[in-house]
Amino acid sequence: WARSAADRLLAKYAVPAPALAKRRTTNVSLINANHDGSYYGLLGLGTPPAPLNVLLDTGSADFWVAGTGCSLAGSGCGGLPLWDPKRSGTYENASVPFSVGYGSGHASGVLGWDTVQFGGFEVVHQAIALCDHVSPGLLTNPISGLLGLAFQQLSASGATPFWETLVRAGEWDTPLMAFFLTRFLNSSALGTQQPGGSVTLGTLDDTLYSGEVDYAPIPAGRQGYWLLELASVAVGANSIPLSASNALNAAVIDTGTTLLLAPASAIQAVFALIPGSQPATGDYAGYYQYPCSSNATLTLSFSGASRAWTISAADFQLLKLANTADSCIAALYQSNLGQTAPQWVVGDTFLKNVYSVFRYDPPSVGFAQLSAKASGLSVPGMLPNVSVQPPQATVTAPAEQLSG
Ligand SMILES: *[C@@H]1O[C@H](CO)[C@@H](O)[C@H](O)[C@H]1NC(C)=O
Ligand SMILES: *[C@@H]1O[C@H](CO)[C@@H](O)[C@H](O)[C@H]1NC(C)=O
Ligand SMILES: *[C@@H]1O[C@H](CO)[C@@H](O)[C@H](O)[C@H]1NC(C)=O
Ligand SMILES: *[C@@H]1O[C@H](CO)[C@@H](O)[C@H](O)[C@H]1NC(C)=O
Ligand SMILES: *[C@@H]1O[C@H](CO)[C@@H](O)[C@H](O)[C@H]1NC(C)=O
Repeated sequence: WARSAADRLLAKYAVPAPALAKRRTTNVSLINANHDGSYYGLLGLGTPPAPLNVLLDTGSADFWVAGTGCSLAGSGCGGLPLWDPKRSGTYENASVPFSVGYGSGHASGVLGWDTVQFGGFEVVHQAIALCDHVSPGLLTNPISGLLGLAFQQLSASGATPFWETLVRAGEWDTPLMAFFLTRFLNSSALGTQQPGGSVTLGTLDDTLYSGEVDYAPIPAGRQGYWLLELASVAVGANSIPLSASNALNAAVIDTGTTLLLAPASAIQAVFALIPGSQPATGDYAGYYQYPCSSNATLTLSFSGASRAWTISAADFQLLKLANTADSCIAALYQSNLGQTAPQWVVGDTFLKNVYSVFRYDPPSVGFAQLSAKASGLSVPGMLPNVSVQPPQATVTAPAEQLSG
């Protein structure tokens, strides 16, 4: 009786809460390209929406695609599917030049706006850079562009990123995105496209992790990157000394970088703890080689979090050198991002070992233990069904001045 009386009351007086009612979540399947080299997903761009594969990059904040203008010899887009703005009824040219640099290259072109659909969300008038120059190797077929998932403060164009428009509009059930990334690094006999895991927007996928998510805050004023401060780095049980300056221990948590990038002094300290290791030469200059049989692992912890996370031996070992009995190349590379940039980039080498959560509010990054189900998903299988999901929710991007 009590329940049905309450139900009647609710039915009569409760006003549907529009902000709550419209909040949504989504779940996008990813593809793992080139043995954990990059993780991409499908979005729809323009009207009608053209399907395009893009890298999902928490380490940058612009959205760009290779356009039909990128077809000249030497423009760096050879073999890539190119997007044709003339086929979209909603493309607008802002006539503002665009250029963005990454550790591994750059892309340039012209800014404009169009409608973007991703994971069942649609943003109208999203800023987009149409690139006609892309550094060779930055994208590999079938990837046509990059969707930056960091904060607006970091964007070269000044525009609000796709994800941030949605989260600020209150479209998400919970203000966070969460990644699970598969591992095919050591399966060199397999093809270069494998199931890549997933990203959820607005929710966690509680089938993919166990225990609690352990969050560390982004230091105040450092929002832009998804940036944490390293608290410790250890080889097995032995810690290396970190810099006395917290600013130099800043680490970008970056789904769009393959390896773990670290300052030269830290890399030397790591390998000083692995007997038999030395700087590699020739094709592998910049890397270290070490005895594969050491099964070396690296454990990181971040300021403000309560636990540490280990890069498995399977991820620390990037490859076995063919002509030597027991020499492996480690998945650690010297950062050369300049003095003002963060010195550490925590890429997929680390992220494959955890469930990772990028939380908008309060600004933080959390990690959780992968579930048994998630650990069992790094096996060859059918590629996920990747048609563009029809939008359940549409938001218009804020009107903004774009910068060149
Ligand atoms: C956009 O405008 C710029 C400058 O006016 C022009 O060079 C470029 O070709 C235009 N691009 C497209 C796709 O319309
Ligand atoms: C790759 O590494 C994982 C984890 O160590 C292991 O379970 C798997 O058997 C390895 N696969 C191959 C092909 O060596
Ligand atoms: C996400 O998609 C995968 C694969 O389709 C499914 O197994 C999983 O349950 C989904 N998770 C959520 C939170 O919808
Ligand atoms: C490394 O792993 C292999 C295979 O599990 C094992 O046989 C070997 O003893 C390990 N080496 C060390 C130094 O722990
Ligand atoms: C693929 O996904 C689309 C959109 O979510 C759906 O309409 C279609 O039925 C799916 N196809 C298969 C084979 O699952």
